[in-house]
Amino acid sequence: MILLLLACGTQRDVAELDPASCAECHPAQYQEWEGSMHAHAADDPVFLALNAKAVATDGVPEDFCVSCHAPVALALGETQDGLNLESVPQSMKGVGCTFCHQLEEATGPANGAVSWVWDGVMRGALDDPLKTDAHKNAYGAALDRDAPESSQVCGSCHDVVLPSGLHLEQSYVEWEASVFSEGLSRQSCGHCHLPSRPGLAAEVDGAQSRRIHDHSMPGVDVALVPWADAERQKALVQELLDKTLLAELCVVPEAAGSKVVLTLENVLAGHNFPSGASHDRRVWVEVRGYSSGAQVLSSGEVSETESVMALQQADLVLLHDEALTAEGEISHGIVDAVSVSRRGLEAPEDLGLPHARSYAWSVPGQALDQVDVRVRMRPVGLDLLQPLLDDGGVTPTQVQAMPIFDLGSTVLHWEGELGSCVGGQQ
Ligand code: HEC
Ligand code: HEC
Ligand code: HEC
Ligand code: HEC
Ligand code: HEC
Repeated sequence: MILLLLACGTQRDVAELDPASCAECHPAQYQEWEGSMHAHAADDPVFLALNAKAVATDGVPEDFCVSCHAPVALALGETQDGLNLESVPQSMKGVGCTFCHQLEEATGPANGAVSWVWDGVMRGALDDPLKTDAHKNAYGAALDRDAPESSQVCGSCHDVVLPSGLHLEQSYVEWEASVFSEGLSRQSCGHCHLPSRPGLAAEVDGAQSRRIHDHSMPGVDVALVPWADAERQKALVQELLDKTLLAELCVVPEAAGSKVVLTLENVLAGHNFPSGASHDRRVWVEVRGYSSGAQVLSSGEVSETESVMALQQADLVLLHDEALTAEGEISHGIVDAVSVSRRGLEAPEDLGLPHARSYAWSVPGQALDQVDVRVRMRPVGLDLLQPLLDDGGVTPTQVQAMPIFDLGSTVLHWEGELGSCVGGQQ
């Protein structure tokens, strides 16, 4: 629950909350943010369709989803349940500049428990900021990548505990358990997700070069509707995913046949891979093995329009979390989940502690001479989109826009003598 703090008797103008009003002086931050999922959070058609289902579910507060996806609109009373988001001004949708930059602290570990002080003072971590007529400046630990409070603020919005008490999404909890949360290897959420570069914090007279921070914050999701900079954002997601895992593929002799062994290690994410909305992701390993030109091994092979969840293969490797309903079915509605099993690749808990995982496929009676593998990821599963398509919540064009990302470092081709390996290097 967001806590809105307003000084008594002060009148503020909603126009100052409009991100577009920042663009004149902060064009880089504005442009990067505009294409980000923070800007898009209340326009995502999958969000709108699932929110409508959640609002209609008994026992779920009507503002549960919008508290994180449209916190400004909710705090200002422009929406109560998100069902009217299409008529809410764009300037109040999503997670805007003035929401993050007026955050004071996390007031709890999850569900958007943050205090938002709408006082026109932009909090950040600039050393001795220039004065401007546009707003006051102040130091804010919540916005300082180097302060532990900043990860708590990101985490409070990124961890989701359902009304049933199930801790469904838990990037913060995972990060806290990892080597990145303390000591010499400390990397806050912001260190990884807002990389810095030299540049102007504001394009005004007298400004000097500082370290500025990229606001694109790519993760996994991409816009399914026409959106600013959509191609650029998608390319940034691909770039991030290409580096996330370390993969080694070995093909070894086994009894009278061969065995394919794939070892995967999460080397870049400061939490599980995948994380967050992992239960809605579909992440799987595709393996193809050949002997004398004939394909003798196939696992996880689907066309662009097929759901990997429809495959009935005992050797299928899935890496996303599995959230189940009370009936034991895979949850397709977020709030109907009652249990979750984690399958993601963990971040290291300690430096030097091995945390790779291996997966094997046996091919009895065949000497393999060629193998191809890749880890594939669809941000939201087709099995989840199908019921929304059936209800008219999303359109066929939106479903077609859902990409499959192949993780570059895992696309490996092996051929030659049994007993040899490829990959394993970054
Ligand atoms: C008329 C120009 C102008 C406009 C418009 C403007 N700013 Fe700024 N802003 C500045 C200047 C100048 C600085 C200080 C830059 C420096 O010292 O290098 C600054 C600094 C900041 C900082 C860093 C504060 C700190 O102490 O670390 C944030 C955050 C910020 N602005 C956010 C915003 C947001 C959000 C908006 C839109 C609601 C906005 N600004 C609109 C000129 C502007
Ligand atoms: C999800 C939260 C979030 C949102 C949304 C956000 N920012 Fe930031 N912003 C940050 C963080 C974190 C930093 C880095 C602070 C640090 O450690 O120096 C930052 C830094 C800045 C700075 C200081 C210069 C720099 O690049 O480091 C400015 C100016 C700024 N943001 C403006 C904006 C504007 C304008 C928008 C909207 C177009 C915006 N921010 C949206 C979190 C956010
Ligand atoms: C108001 C709550 C809120 C705060 C504060 C917040 N986020 Fe987010 N963030 C969201 C929402 C909601 C989305 C998802 C939008 C979507 O995919 O529909 C998101 C998306 C993201 C994504 C993209 C995820 C993906 O799969 O595409 C990243 C990365 C991210 N946030 C990082 C951060 C970091 C780092 C911070 C702290 C500096 C932060 N966020 C602060 C709510 C928040
Ligand atoms: C050591 C670097 C690192 C740190 C620290 C880190 N992340 Fe990430 N994050 C990544 C990488 C790399 C990815 C892309 C791979 C993935 O999806 O896990 C990612 C992905 C994400 C995603 C999309 C996840 C998905 O699979 O849907 C979210 C959301 C996110 N991060 C939030 C956070 C939050 C919140 C924190 C702090 C509590 C944090 N990250 C800390 C590197 C980091
Ligand atoms: C605690 C804040 C929070 C709450 C509450 C929340 N979300 Fe999110 N949501 C996020 C964040 C953060 C992400 C990005 C996570 C990631 O990339 O892994 C996200 C991502 C999403 C996505 C895009 C990826 C996916 O899983 O399909 C959809 C759709 C979505 N949320 C729908 C909802 C709905 C519907 C509700 C209410 C039932 C809801 N969210 C409640 C923070 C929240």
